[in-house]
Amino acid sequence: MSASLVDPRLQGRALKRVAFTTDQIRGRVRELGADISAAYPDGDLLVLGLLKGSFILVSDLVREISRPLQVDFLVVSSYGNDMVSSGTVRMVYDAQAVLKGKHILLVEDIVDSGRTLSMVITVLQEREPASIEVCALLDKHLSTFLEHPPRFVGFDAPNEFLVGYGLDHAENFRHLPYIASLQ
Ligand code: IMP
Ligand code: MG
Repeated sequence: MSASLVDPRLQGRALKRVAFTTDQIRGRVRELGADISAAYPDGDLLVLGLLKGSFILVSDLVREISRPLQVDFLVVSSYGNDMVSSGTVRMVYDAQAVLKGKHILLVEDIVDSGRTLSMVITVLQEREPASIEVCALLDKHLSTFLEHPPRFVGFDAPNEFLVGYGLDHAENFRHLPYIASLQ
């Protein structure tokens, strides 16, 4: 897409293509918010964002959810600076919120192998929440690990390395308002 080629945010790095535009993301996040609002008729809802990749999605998504909720975050590290999953998942920062008895909506940027989610869900289940569901912006549908596939998915992702709207490569490109694949 020609607009991305002249994007001053890219530090000269070339994008292969824009996979999802800002308008597509905005429309889909609005739909996800409506689906999530309808899925939780009652009870306490805690939206738990997996940092750092979900930071933009969480901030846009919670404003599209029309029911009471609380927000907290977890930091989990899995990839380092590589474009392939290292296979090791570490909890770097734990949520402060009490989970017991609450509906937990884990928000993830992208599900690749599914290792990150299955590790986090195992840890969170021990805290006796009322329920745990996952909202993922993107799903590559490659996971062989997940007993618990995401209930809410923004887009089916192509099997390419994607950046933007929170997704990084070596901490760059998180601030792109669209989602693109790297050259
Ligand atoms: P999984 O544990 O293999 O499912 O990997 C999930 C995590 O890897 C995500 O939360 C992202 O941080 C990162 N990741 C996976 N695929 C991509 C990608 O295409 N672009 C950027 N980050 C990715
Ligand atoms: Mg990452």
